[in-house]
Amino acid sequence: MTKQEEKSFNFPYKEYRSVNELEKDEQELVRLAGEASANAYSPYSKFNVGAAVLLENGEIFTGNNQENAAYPSGLCAERVALFYASSQFPGVPVKKLAVAASKNKRMIEAPVPPCGSCRQVFIEWEKRFNKPFSVIMAGSKKIIKVEKAMWLLPFNFQSDYL
Ligand code: THU
Repeated sequence: MTKQEEKSFNFPYKEYRSVNELEKDEQELVRLAGEASANAYSPYSKFNVGAAVLLENGEIFTGNNQENAAYPSGLCAERVALFYASSQFPGVPVKKLAVAASKNKRMIEAPVPPCGSCRQVFIEWEKRFNKPFSVIMAGSKKIIKVEKAMWLLPFNFQSDYL
């Protein structure tokens, strides 16, 4: 029997204890994501998520989760922000994206990891512009930064497969 080589995924990320440890533009993104979470439409989950997207041209767009009585019709904060940014500046790559969440008006302690569908969308943007962007997952007690969104979704599906 042939011996199969064992392979593994491994990617770097940074962990911070306070928002002040981030770069200035990232601090601003986290602040804006937190602020945006306050305007979420989340009557069903009551989990308010905000996202802020920094484009390469310096423009910043924010979004929040928009829920629906037909649950799957809602959309996550990250995609609302990203689609909004892209609708305004379709040719401009994304530089950084921050996400934060609050419950009962308090930022949650743990960093919010984007869902799988949002990760899939992030990858489309990185591929589209051939440019990775960083994802900052912010919590009040811990912040995680990943330099390339595609690292968050191993074995991802891309347009090359079509
Ligand atoms: N949600 C987001 O907006 N972003 C995430 O990263 C995780 C989940 C939303 C979807 C839904 O409105 C609520 O949070 C609970 O899942």
